[in-house]
Amino acid sequence: MRMTLSRAAFPTDFRFGAATAAYQIEGTRLGTCGRSHWDKFARDGGTFNNENGDIACAHYDLWPQDLDLVKRAGFDAYRFSIAWPRIQPEGRGKPLAEGLDFYDRLVDGMLERDLEPFATLYHWDLPLALADRDGWRNRDTALRFADYSAHVCQRLGDRLASVATINEPWCVAWLSHYEGAHAPGLKDISATAKAMHNILVAHAESVKVMRELKQPNLGIVLNMEYSNPATDKEADRHAAQIHDGIYNRWFVEALRKGRYPSDIMEYLDPYMPEGWQDDMDDISAPLDWLGINYYTRSNHADNGTGAFPFSRTVTGPLPKSSMGWETYPDGLEFFLKRTRSDYTGDLPLYVTENGTARHDRLTEDGVDDAGRCGYFNQHLEAVHRAMEDGVPVKGYFAWSLLDNFEWAFGYRERFGLVHVDYETQKRTPKASYHMFRQFLED
Ligand code: FCB
Repeated sequence: MRMTLSRAAFPTDFRFGAATAAYQIEGTRLGTCGRSHWDKFARDGGTFNNENGDIACAHYDLWPQDLDLVKRAGFDAYRFSIAWPRIQPEGRGKPLAEGLDFYDRLVDGMLERDLEPFATLYHWDLPLALADRDGWRNRDTALRFADYSAHVCQRLGDRLASVATINEPWCVAWLSHYEGAHAPGLKDISATAKAMHNILVAHAESVKVMRELKQPNLGIVLNMEYSNPATDKEADRHAAQIHDGIYNRWFVEALRKGRYPSDIMEYLDPYMPEGWQDDMDDISAPLDWLGINYYTRSNHADNGTGAFPFSRTVTGPLPKSSMGWETYPDGLEFFLKRTRSDYTGDLPLYVTENGTARHDRLTEDGVDDAGRCGYFNQHLEAVHRAMEDGVPVKGYFAWSLLDNFEWAFGYRERFGLVHVDYETQKRTPKASYHMFRQFLED
């Protein structure tokens, strides 16, 4: 399969890349890595079959061939994350040389291959020692994160093309503290409100120290999921609006306008950490770019309780991934346009993740992931439509380079452009990988 668009339809300085995250690929038993709350969450039954990131894709050892794969596809950039527990196994104190050395090699490996390093400082692997002190419920975690950010910049900063502070604050806060679906697995509205704010304090404090260190090109990565009302009924539309507020507006409004959306604050205000107002100026300090991760839409019906957050998700009619996520490329176009018009104006935007899970079959002929090819094609068209409308999108990253540890779903769900056999660690590029290569070569 071929993309309908050609690469020439995008500006010459537009960056195409592939993305991964440390805990999902590196293997925390390889090298020297402290424990994170994901190790605990997996052990305590939070993941499919109690699967964890102990070995994952053994990328800690196999990174040269993985970077070769990024390069051979013709990508310009590689988005990766740094494991905080490799740098500070206890979440504080002197950085560990072995951890910094690993990322030093990795970043040099990117530069040798002419790949731009797009680093993310926090992609969810919170050091367990900090999780044991209430993690993101505790404001102090944000200050520890700023220290860690400084260590990373001091060692790697001269070679990073871009730095994101946090990946997907909604997942860090709501999914993990309200829905209990990610580490630390809480279902507690008070904890949720604290995390919804403290994760942005972490961003703000990190940006502050990195600005002092003159680290260029700082941003943050937000995930957005289109909130579709299940019917036209007023109550369902309200449920969708509340979902949109929590998921899609809370963080961007704080970052860009220095306030939280009033329709959500109406319910979260009683649980907010004391003095939260004093942080809003720092939280809304200027950014150099904003990243949007987009996968799907969800359908919302009134949950009948009359209580916040009012919504229950129902199954929608569109084609779905193996995780039941509907394919809805118009949602990506919608968010790019709304983000520009309501929040970011001329600020450069990146699509920092986009992709789909499929239960791929590896045969002698490789992996024919036609569904994934179609998905990428439709979403790139959506990005292009937004750009034609004037949205300053500067790059697009496919999630993911490799099949990997898909958090609560363990190794059951595959998102890779490249198939991974977890027994042998053999990598096999899928049809979607070849499609990107052809697109990027043309
Ligand atoms: C995003 C995460 C990423 C991956 C994809 C499928 O929410 O950032 O790590 O799990 O979803």
